[in-house]
Amino acid sequence: MSSFQRFAVIGHPIEHSLSPQIHQAFAEQLGDQVLYEKVCAPLDEFEPVCEAFFNQGGKGLNITVPFKERAFDWADLYTDRAKLAGAVNTLWKSSTGQIVGDNTDGVGLVTDLSKNLGFSIENKRILMIGAGGAVKGVLGPIIAQGPKQICISNRTEDKAQALSKLRPDLCIASSLSDIPSERFDLVVNGTSISLDQSVADKLLSGLPSSLIHHHTCYYDMMYSPKLTPFLSWCSSLGAQNVVDGLGMLVEQAAEAYFQWHDKRPDTAPVLANLRASLQELESSH
Ligand code: ATR
Repeated sequence: MSSFQRFAVIGHPIEHSLSPQIHQAFAEQLGDQVLYEKVCAPLDEFEPVCEAFFNQGGKGLNITVPFKERAFDWADLYTDRAKLAGAVNTLWKSSTGQIVGDNTDGVGLVTDLSKNLGFSIENKRILMIGAGGAVKGVLGPIIAQGPKQICISNRTEDKAQALSKLRPDLCIASSLSDIPSERFDLVVNGTSISLDQSVADKLLSGLPSSLIHHHTCYYDMMYSPKLTPFLSWCSSLGAQNVVDGLGMLVEQAAEAYFQWHDKRPDTAPVLANLRASLQELESSH
């Protein structure tokens, strides 16, 4: 019998996922025998695909767009941070056969900021742009770091209001046209606008240029070999400190790896190699 343990990431679409590359690199580094695949589940068959994976001896799944909320509904038990997020990106089977759902996205963002970028959230003013699953998924771990204030700004203000109720003493909400003019230390784009340049142009043209300050860190949860539209807008207005979400991707994967294998990979060489291979790919086009 093979001693390889099977893992996979499930999404729709899934071709561009870097998770197999990241997890195989972790496994190589730690000497684990891991087979990590990409699975594109048909939209109406997410749950049976997960079920079959675990019934066939699969050890763990990562879940990506658009299935994170469905994975939450499908799991039997949750970690506290998954419960808070209402979304799951990591699944495994407990020793009693129950499916456990976790959400490692928030820890991924916080670890990228603190460990890779030397940015401490404690006592800082933070602007989160967006109030969908991506922002909801990271809010708990950000709050746990003790920021001074979090402003959640979203096109649909009601969704920002609903999220801000999580900690009304700490969070305020606004529409995109009404972002407070005070200086933020960290501005996070948690919207999906970077996927589409024309959508991004429309949103960015409505944001106040007063958001840009020399010492503020601008973070896009999306990543791309070139600057994302959001980071490109920030840079064009003089922002110095712009960061995409590749580090968050690697750190959320490391946290999932820890949950599955009880070992922590060294993420720095994996992130550096991934960045280099993405840039190489970009320059060959
Ligand atoms: P996810 O779960 O990946 O976060 P989502 O729940 O659809 O996806 O949320 C996407 C986020 O991007 C939301 O904050 C959304 O704003 P709304 O809540 O108003 O829909 C934001 N978003 C998407 N397209 C946008 C656009 N064209 N302009 C402004 N915000 C947009």
